[in-house]
Amino acid sequence: MNINTNYQNISDSYLFSTIAKKVNEFAQKNPDKKIIKLGIGDVTLPLCKVVVESLKKASDEMGVKETFRGYGPEQGYEFLKSQIKEYYASHKVGLEADEIFISDGAKSDLGNILDLFSQDNTVLVPDPVYPVYVDTNTMAGRKIIYIDANADNNFLPLPDDSVKADIVYLCSPNNPTGAVYDKEQLKKWVDYANKNGAVILFDSAYECFITDSSLPRSIYEIEGAKTCAIEFCSLSKMAGFTGTRCGWTVVPKALADGVLNKMWLRRQTTKFNGVPYIIQRGAEAVFTSEGQKEIQENLNYYKENAKIISDVLKKHNIWHIGGKHSPYIWLKCPNNMSSWEFFDYLLENIQIVGTPGSGFGKNGEGYFRLTSFGSRENTIEAVERLDKFLD
Ligand code: MLT
Repeated sequence: MNINTNYQNISDSYLFSTIAKKVNEFAQKNPDKKIIKLGIGDVTLPLCKVVVESLKKASDEMGVKETFRGYGPEQGYEFLKSQIKEYYASHKVGLEADEIFISDGAKSDLGNILDLFSQDNTVLVPDPVYPVYVDTNTMAGRKIIYIDANADNNFLPLPDDSVKADIVYLCSPNNPTGAVYDKEQLKKWVDYANKNGAVILFDSAYECFITDSSLPRSIYEIEGAKTCAIEFCSLSKMAGFTGTRCGWTVVPKALADGVLNKMWLRRQTTKFNGVPYIIQRGAEAVFTSEGQKEIQENLNYYKENAKIISDVLKKHNIWHIGGKHSPYIWLKCPNNMSSWEFFDYLLENIQIVGTPGSGFGKNGEGYFRLTSFGSRENTIEAVERLDKFLD
């Protein structure tokens, strides 16, 4: 056999695995030190009560002959798709149920979707960016070009007509910076894609953190987006499903005359057997009014954590953005430290783990990401340690 040599072009380990390894090594050498992890964006609050009730009920059904279910539809059960359709309708986006595909999360589908596109497409990726976009395209041997996101453009780069790309990745609210495109800015991307026959792969995994109703939560709030964009969303951050696994992908039928919608259905029915029935029932409960109320309480809790972190950074005059419509705070490393220097410095001195900005691309060098997904107690303790240390 011949191996896929494209793997030689990616780093040996995925960003968050590298961080976990470093932290574990430190923990083994320093068993008496309490490490506070504000690195990977993993939630800490438990699932909502209505979700747990729904999971239990569905588990019971699976143990009874009359209600037991085997293979489900690969693209998801209608009961969940209709809830998601309603969710979009509440943001004034009209979708048809067969444009929604239930998945085990945005990360998987962001990689899997590449099955639909020819290898000779050029991919445009903002830098810094969620590493999955770059790694998955590198694995497939696709040409990647970058667009700079930096302090000059508020980490919200806009299209340049002289740059020709076939596949464009956008993430708003952004991972890692927390920056959010407004409607006018997103419209520029939609116009660019429609004009150039490009497709936008829009990662909306953090849309639930948007509180300003003038900001778009879905790319389909922008006129013309259905002819150029595929959207990926997830219950991971919205409803604490990082370990439970459920999300969805929208492939509009107006896109490429329905060809991509058909191809995605074909791909999913061939390579995926669907998200477990029990999990989809849990996901359904997220969209009930009780579920929405409970998840909002959790999102508010994380937002308060973000404020607590932001306040201490302000006190020490550390430049930062994010945290308002996002669980991420993106800060400039003090004293011109590099991202990894600051990572080691925090881990060794005050045992706080964040994510080095350079792990998200060259423009992330000198920056650092903290998440607000920790527990309140740990966030307060981390901030107290930072406060003393930065003095
Ligand atoms: C992150 O920390 O960037 C996210 O947790 C990664 C992910 O959602 O896969």
